[in-house]
Parts: sequence; structure tokens; C-alpha cells
Amino acid sequence: MIKGRIAGTGSTTPKRILTNKDLENIVDTSDEWITRRTGIKERRISSSGQDENTSDLATKASLKALEMAGISPEDLDMIVVGTVTPDRQFPSAACLVQKALKASKAVAFDVSAGCSGFLYALFVADNAIATGNSRKALVIGAERLSSITNWEDRSTCVLLGDGAGAVVLTPTTGPDGILSTHLQSDGNFWNLLYSYDEASKIPEILDTIEGKPFSLRMEGNRLFKKAVVCLSNIAAAALEHHGVSSTDIRLMIPHQANIRIIKAVAKKLCIPMDKVYTNIQRYGNTSSATIPIALDEANREGLLRAGDYVLLVTFGAGLTWGASVVNWSS
Ligand code: UT7
Repeated sequence: MIKGRIAGTGSTTPKRILTNKDLENIVDTSDEWITRRTGIKERRISSSGQDENTSDLATKASLKALEMAGISPEDLDMIVVGTVTPDRQFPSAACLVQKALKASKAVAFDVSAGCSGFLYALFVADNAIATGNSRKALVIGAERLSSITNWEDRSTCVLLGDGAGAVVLTPTTGPDGILSTHLQSDGNFWNLLYSYDEASKIPEILDTIEGKPFSLRMEGNRLFKKAVVCLSNIAAAALEHHGVSSTDIRLMIPHQANIRIIKAVAKKLCIPMDKVYTNIQRYGNTSSATIPIALDEANREGLLRAGDYVLLVTFGAGLTWGASVVNWSS
């Protein structure tokens, strides 16, 4: 049976750091509240004119993943970007990445699945590999949430950040690779996290941000409770499907929305926190980009070895959620 294997990872974040202290000058909040309630200490914010739009970040992350995989962009046959903040409504961010990489043979398109965009994109590309429709696919999670953040809403603006991560998938018939991706959606709860047609007023000290004509709205508390249940249930189902126990997991890489959500899910799954990768402290919630950025960092830190079981688990607007079990490739 053919399945996709992760042959290379890459990630990038914008240069500008926005700390909790900086946010104290923008909304009525405190470093203490943000740290205690979310685990976030700082996040990265894209600046206009710095090649830090969604497709720029996606391209930079992709080049690193391609280099690690030893694959040239011209050999790619598929580029899938999970994002809710493409540079423009259309064309897709994926087509802009294709142009920047000169990946002329690749079919390129975006997937919109809220913060679950990367796992949904991975599912599509992995299936294309399994059916022989793709042999070298680039899967990206990239966001510029600063462009849709409501900078007057303290309950959301402290959470979000910008960044991108990418993986290169190639086929394998060995024991390694993406064992499966379980996905679920429930549109009945769309109004817990959604965009509305009103541009945010950008504060003066953030005047390098390029805003879009819409912003993000969230009912955090209800979403929190849904997240813990959905994440734990789908992760447990994915593990059970493969007869993998939580003690077999080398590393869980969860969507980084809130450290309290991550800890609650790890506890429910009986996975100790030293087997859970977190970087929410440094980047906040970068939506589709959290998992591929964390995966790349864990990979480059040497935390993953051939044969390790890695659990990716995500949750986001839609609602959408999912889990992937990966047998790490050498
Ligand atoms: O990535 C997609 C999925 N996203 C999520 O799953 C996010 C899920 N939600 C969360 O992470 C949390 O619900 C939040 C971090 C958004 C909020 O934490 P919470 O513990 O649920 O707080 P809360 O909304 O219940 O608010 C508690 C209090 C309120 O004040 P009162 O009414 O008790 O006086 C808020 O007004 O905290 C207040 N508050 C703040 N205070 C200082 C809300 N935001 C802030 C803030 N600084 N930034």
C-alpha cells in the first residue's frame, strides 16, 4: 500500500515580535493574565513591505522543507496551502507560492478549514499520493492573522500571530509515513469562531500591519470546552484505529491555541507533557501554521527518529478538527 511520508520540514515567522507587555499599551490586559490564561508570552507580526505576506511566509517555509527533502521545486506535482488569510481572496496563496518557487508542474490550490487547514491539506495530498495522483507534494499551513485581528478586542487580539510551516510528501511502501488522518467537521457551531465584514482599527504602534476589510470574532469560553472534547476524542480514535497506545507516542504536536487546552487534552490521553511539543509561548495561535511550525522545530531539534510515532491533532473554525498518526521517516 502506498502512503505519503514526510521527507522534509520547514518553517518561518515574521521578524517583528509583539510581546504581552506591548499589548498592555493597546488593550486593557496584562502579561500576567495572558500568560496564566493562555501560556502565550509573545507572537510574531507581519510588517508590510517586508515580504511577509501569507504567500511570502509560505514560500520561505517551503524552500527550507524542499532543501531538507533534497527536492527541487520543478519536481513538485502538487502544492496545497491550508490558510484563512490568503494574500487575496483569489488567486489562491498556493498559486502565488507556485509562481515564487517556479514549480511549473505543480497543481496548486488552497484549503479553507480554519485552524485545521494544515491537517486537511495533508489529508488531501496524502490521498493524492496514495492513489498515485501525486509523487511529490508540498503541504503548507500559512497565516497572517494580524491582518484580520480586531485590535480593540482584548479577548482575541492577545491570542493570534503570523507564520508558516511546510512539509514535503513523497510516496513510501514501507512501515513509515502518514498512517492515517481522521477528520471531522460540524457547521452547527460555525458561530463560535468566524469572520465578519468590518475592518479593524489598527493601533498607531502597529501601523506596519496591513489590515483586511474583515475581522475575526470568537466565543472563546464555549470554544475552549468544545476544543478539549473534540481534540481528545479524535486523537483517541486515531490511536485506537492503529492499535497505537498513548505510551507508544514519541511526541504529540497539538494545535497551539491555549496551553490549558493542550494540557487538558494530554491529560485525557494520558500523554505526559514532556512528550508534548509546545511553542505557543513564542508564537501564540498562528491557526493553520501552528502544527507545521512545531513539527519543523521538533524535527530540527532532533526530537524525532525513524520509527517514532507522532500524533498531530488540531481544532478550529468550522468547526473542524482532526488527528494524524505518523510513523516518522528517517
Ligand atoms: O484556534 C482555534 C480554536 N481556539 C480556541 O480553541 C480558543 C479557545 N478559548 C480560549 O483559549 C479561552 O477561552 C480564552 C483565552 C480566549 C479566554 O480565556 P477564558 O479563561 O475562557 O476567559 P473568559 O473568556 O471566560 O474571560 C474571563 C475574564 C472576563 O472578565 P470577567 O467577565 O470575568 O470580568 C474577560 O472579560 O477575563 C477577561 N478577559 C481578559 N482580561 C484581561 C478576556 N480577555 C482578557 C484579556 N486580558 N486579554
